[in-house]
Parts: sequence; structure tokens; C-alpha cells
Amino acid sequence: MLERLGDWKRSSYCAEVTAADIGKTVTLMGWVQRRRDHGGLIFIDLRDRAGLVQLVFNPDAGEVHARAHDLRSEFVIAVKGTVGERPVGTENPFLKTGKVEVVAKELKVLNDSAPLPFMIEDDTDVAETTRLKYRYLDLRRAALQKKLLLRHRVAMSTRNYLAENGFIEMETPVLTKSTPEGARDFLVPSRLTPGSFFALPQSPQLFKQILMISGFDRYFQIVKCFRDEDLRADRQPEFTQIDAEMSFVDREDVIEVMEGLIKRIFEEAGAELKPPFPRMTYAEAVGRFGVDNPDTRFGLELKDLTDSLKGSGFKVFADAASKGGVIKALCVKNGAVFSRKDLDDLTEIAVSFGARGLAWVKITEEGWQSPIAKFLSDAEKETIVAISGAEKGDLLLFGADRASVANTVLGRLRLNIGGRLGLIPKEGYNFVWITEFPMLDYDEAEKRFVAVHHPFTAPMDEDLDKLDTEPLKVRAKAYDLVLNGSEIGGGSIRIHRSDIQARIFEKLGIAKEEAELRFGFLLDALKFGTPPHGGIAFGLDRIMSIITGSESIRDVIAFPKTQKGTDLMSDAPSAVDQKQLDEIFIRVARKVEKQEKA
Ligand code: AMO
Ligand code: AMP
Repeated sequence: MLERLGDWKRSSYCAEVTAADIGKTVTLMGWVQRRRDHGGLIFIDLRDRAGLVQLVFNPDAGEVHARAHDLRSEFVIAVKGTVGERPVGTENPFLKTGKVEVVAKELKVLNDSAPLPFMIEDDTDVAETTRLKYRYLDLRRAALQKKLLLRHRVAMSTRNYLAENGFIEMETPVLTKSTPEGARDFLVPSRLTPGSFFALPQSPQLFKQILMISGFDRYFQIVKCFRDEDLRADRQPEFTQIDAEMSFVDREDVIEVMEGLIKRIFEEAGAELKPPFPRMTYAEAVGRFGVDNPDTRFGLELKDLTDSLKGSGFKVFADAASKGGVIKALCVKNGAVFSRKDLDDLTEIAVSFGARGLAWVKITEEGWQSPIAKFLSDAEKETIVAISGAEKGDLLLFGADRASVANTVLGRLRLNIGGRLGLIPKEGYNFVWITEFPMLDYDEAEKRFVAVHHPFTAPMDEDLDKLDTEPLKVRAKAYDLVLNGSEIGGGSIRIHRSDIQARIFEKLGIAKEEAELRFGFLLDALKFGTPPHGGIAFGLDRIMSIITGSESIRDVIAFPKTQKGTDLMSDAPSAVDQKQLDEIFIRVARKVEKQEKA
């Protein structure tokens, strides 16, 4: 029989009962984690968001004892009882409340529970799809509760720190116009303007710049952003940014304030960071690590052999160099033990990132073992050894291609091998700011320049004159913060002059009319006294997943989407009534069956 709460008031959370309460009467409420019958004595582990406490029901408690017998996992109960010391030998050192127990005197069963699809336990091997379908049960697990409570504390610290530093929290619209951050937009059809669409913001970029033009000077927001892109372990279609913008600043001002924020955030996780963080230019990051988000926790750096091997008798090398590409190598210490299968695996990875092959050399007791050794002169071999530092027992892997391909391929292999060989430390935070990004990239498929960051990023003053002659050499006032190989934030100093903005649009092949149509409001605003300004956005989910050591950002989001962008709990996205579609003048051209969706 279920009962009402009536005038019962909770005296504390379960895990807050301590030895100091011995002898006191407490009123606790929560879920039955476990019931154990011990020949008369019934033990219940009672759970709430703070943790567990042990309840004891004595046979001499009469009716209360009898009812305790019927309690099952996840029943919701309220108990009044007296705090006692656990008998010697029955303490639980793993539990915060392990020295005490609550001897139940009164019991109210507030609700029962259907049998569970899985047990509420920290170590669970239940499929993630099942856990996501029953996310409310999954979220009862202490491991997930801990992560989300920490997320709350990080959000609070962020607000406090930024407010203390003069930032104003402001909201920007969710129903808005497309923001060019490089992903696809989520569109929302307008009922009142048939045939027109809102876009959900990929970021508040344009609005935060406009707030600077309005004179708010320092803005921040903890804000949902929406990007319809292919998902990975560190990407969600809707995710949260800590977004900020500042007026009358240069790069150093933004970096300094934001290092303070990161320090404060990590204090919540018990880490003592010591900014300033190291810096690396984009060119150096790509040169040494192959990627612009280098994991600097371990070595295994790329070595450039282009100059030494450009005249090589090995055609693959000579061709790459003659076409303006590069020849680079990774020296894997003690990698000569890699098997044929290991090398095939690595080659497969290389090819999946665009390589045409993966030349390798094993330096063994007997000398060079390699399919390409016969093409290399002794002098070339010597140079390779000198530059790569290879010794007996090592493995060399080569990438000879356009710089972007060779760097990406070796950068990916570096991570894979670092993982395989256990070179990546599990503990510790390695931050690095990446600066001096190129402003533009050339999109081969579309045959036009695209912005590496976004089109509002300012070029570096000293590179401005290269805009027409060598556009790919123009560097931007952009910066990313990388933590353990993950890009946790990015920002830039913005263009605040409409003439320069117009030149950049022109370079990007965005016609005047198109620019007008897409961001006319920003271009207009730039004409009316725009202060120099810049900012940054951090990915809160990514920061939380690193702080909590989670494999996926899904673990730090209360209600995440699957890899296919669906919500298994609410079953979104889902079909809607014809009536609803008619109201917004939408006709569906193709329907996808449910099974395909999960
Ligand atoms: P950017 O596009 O670099 O910059 O985004 C900032 C940070 O947001 C995080 N992030 C994501 N996290 C989870 N899932 C995603 N799909 C996802 N996409 C991005 C990353 C990233 O570093 N308006 C600019 C910022 C600025 O210039 O001020 C912007 O959005 O951690
Ligand atoms: P091939 O002469 O094309 O048979 O290639 C000889 C070796 O070089 C093989 O091990 C290939 O995997 C490797 N290889 C081919 N193309 C490249 C490239 N662009 N970069 C690095 N290695 C390559």
C-alpha cells in the first residue's frame, strides 16, 4: 500500500548521516538500492543523489519489519529512525556512511517500481542503447550523477569568475539566421512566413559581435549550439559552449582572462593549473605533430626529410617532392617488433586518411628490412638515421604526399601508435594554445577559398598585404586551446572595419548580394562605430568529458543523442501529423522507416 508524504520532512541526504549523528533521529527519503534478509534482520541500502546509507529493520519493530520485507529495488521510501554505530567488523570502509546505520522505526512506502531493465550499478555492461532508452534509470547511477553534479559546479564557477571579471550574461536568439561555423544548419520552418526558415544557431557569433557594437563591452553565455554534422565521440548535434566576447582587446587580453577561467574551472576538479599555458604556432603544430590539435603528452614527433630525399631514387619520394609536397617520417622506438599484421593495420589507417601507401623500414640486427631499402643510397640512409634519430630496433614510417595529406596521415598514425604502445599518460593535463592559424584554405571541390575559422576573423596586420598576392600565406588572429589533443576552445580577434570585412568576403567569393542576404545586419552594424573586439568559445561538454575521464561526451550530457543523432528515450526525431505539416506548408518527399533510424 502506497502512502503520502504527509507532514514528514527530510532531515538530510542519506550520505550526510555521520558518526556525529549517533543517537539522533533522522528522516531520510530515497530509493531502495538493495535489500538483504539476514535471518530476521533486514538491511536496506537507501540511495539518494548524495549516496547510500544502510537502514536496519529489526524483527521487534513489528509491522514496519514486515513491510520492509516487501520492499524491492527502486521502491521510493521515507524512513524515520535512530542513527547507531555499526557493530565492530561490519563497518564498510568504502562507504562515506560506512561506520553508521539507521535503525528504522517508521516506514512510508511512497512508490513502488516495475522490475528494472537493468540494475542501478556503477559497473554496468548493459548496452549503451538500452541505457539511453531508459536514461532516467541510467542517470540514477552514482557515476553519472557525480559527473553531472561536477558539471553544475563548473557552470557555477564559470558564471562567478566571468561576472567577477566584468562579463555580463546575455541571451541570444535560438530562432535565428544561419551562422557560418562550417557545419550544416538545423532549419525551422516558419508558419507565419510560409516558405521561410529560421536556422538554429551554430554559435551566437554574430549576436555577440553585435553586443560589442552596442557597447556591452564584455559578454558571456553558457549556450546551446546546434550543428548538423556527422557525429563522433567528441561531437553532438546540440552541445554547450561557454561563449564570450570582449571589446578594446587584443589576443593577449583574451588569452589572459580565459586562462584564469580555465584555472578556476579545473580547481573544481581538484587540479591546480599554472597558467600561462604553452603556445605553439599552427605551422609548428602541424610540422611536429601533423595536426592542429596536438596531443603534447607524448613525443613521437614527425620529422621532415623533404630536403634530404627530394632527389631520391625511390620514385614515390622524388615525385612527392617535385610536386611541391613533403616527405616526412615517424620513428617508432622499438617498433621493429611490429608484425606484418600490425603494419597492414597501420597501412589501412594511412590509406583511410588519404595516403597512397605506407613505406616502412625496420632497423634490425641484420640491417634495414624494408620494401624500399633497395631504392635508397647509403648516404640517404645515413641522413634518414641522422634526422629521425632511428636506432636498432626502431621502425620508421614514411608519408610522401601533399603536405596536408602526409601530415594528417602521420599525425593519425602517431595517435594510434601512441595508444598501442601505451605512450599516452593517463593522468595530467597538457594545455597548449595554437596561434597564427592560416586565414584561408582552398576548397578543391568547390574551387574557392574558405575561411579556416569563420569569415569574421581578422587577418594578422603584418600579413594584410599578402591578401591579394599570396592569400594562403595570410595568417589570422585566431587561437585554439587544445587539451590532451582535444580542441576545447577556439576564438579570434574580429574584423571591426567594414572595408576589410568586404575585402575578405570578396576573397571568399561571397558576392556582395549574397553577403548582404546572409549577414547584411552585421555588415550594417559594422558601419556604426564598432570597437575593436574579440572573443572565444569553449566546448563545455568536451571540457567535462576530459575532467571526468569519460570516453564519450555523452557521459557528461544528461540527455545526449546517439551517434545517429537520435534521442532513444523520447524517440526524437519522429513523424508529425499531416495537420502540423500543412500549417507550416511542408510536404515530405521521402520517409525513412523507423528501424533505419536507431
Ligand atoms: P568553434 O566552432 O571552434 O568556435 O567552437 C568552439 C568550441 O565548441 C566545441 N564544439 C563542439 N563540442 C561538441 N560537439 C560539437 N559538435 C562541437 N563543435 C564545436 C569545441 C570548440 O573548440 N563562434 C566561434 C567561437 C569564437 O570565435 O568566439 C565558435 O563557435 O570545443
Ligand atoms: P610502390 O613502389 O608504389 O609499390 O610502393 C613501395 C612502398 O611505398 C610501399 O610500401 C607503399 O606502401 C609505399 N608508398 C606508396 N606511396 C606512398 C606514399 N605516398 N607515401 C608513403 N609511402 C608510400
